[in-house]
Amino acid sequence: MTKSPRSGPEHVAIIMDGNGRWAQSRGKPRLFGHHAGAKRVREIVRACPDHGVKYLTIFAFSTENWKRTQSEVAGLMSLFRRYIQREARDLLAEGVRVRFIGDRVRLDAKLQRLMDELELLTSKNDKVHLTIALNYGGRDEVARATKRLARDVKAGRLDPETVNDETLTRYLDTCLLPDPDLVVRTSGEARISNFLLWQSAYAEYEFIDTLWPDFTRDVFAGIVRDYAGRERRFGAVLT
Ligand code: IPE
Ligand code: IPE
Ligand code: MG
Repeated sequence: MTKSPRSGPEHVAIIMDGNGRWAQSRGKPRLFGHHAGAKRVREIVRACPDHGVKYLTIFAFSTENWKRTQSEVAGLMSLFRRYIQREARDLLAEGVRVRFIGDRVRLDAKLQRLMDELELLTSKNDKVHLTIALNYGGRDEVARATKRLARDVKAGRLDPETVNDETLTRYLDTCLLPDPDLVVRTSGEARISNFLLWQSAYAEYEFIDTLWPDFTRDVFAGIVRDYAGRERRFGAVLT
């Protein structure tokens, strides 16, 4: 179960952080930074095929981000709606399959509808798998998965004696995705803030100082190149 150090990451997950500081350093409101950040997403999705990255998962809004001011939350929700409306056609044409992970129930009805439609619209695509984590928290995801698993046990559909880590994996929002090979966090913070806790057990991490709105395709290329030089052992001793 070891991977050749020379191969690139198949699945890159990114904690897109630093939008607020980027805007504030320019004397602009935080939402200005979120808009600049959303533009970068397009550039990075497009760069994925050049580097053999088949899966890109991005953290857009956490279960903890509701603690922000009402106006920032509303601005972000409006940005997500507009992003989907504006990008849907190009994502479809460029072969991108979009999925959302996280708890949708708390999102407004219109946003939920746009998310469902975009997933359906792009469901036949296979060039790049873009997963957007929206109202996502790793602990929340494991709790929701456990709830569904417990319901299946109660209904007699699942034998509790057979439950192992693969069983739980099947109940997660990410059930159709491979584990991330590389998790990147921008903005200089060295923490994972409840992102993909279960799935990143053996991921490589890269924490960089660049703020998300400054994260160009060249920065991305550099990180992917560095990854190829790493040695992944998965607990084994390499011979
Ligand atoms: C990341 O940027 C985007 C979201 C969390 C929605 P931040 O808004 O966290 O930016 P900083 O960390 O305050 O600079
Ligand atoms: C993590 O960033 C969430 C997203 C990037 C969507 P935060 O800015 O919310 O994380 P903390 O609060 O610094 O841990
Ligand atoms: Mg932040």
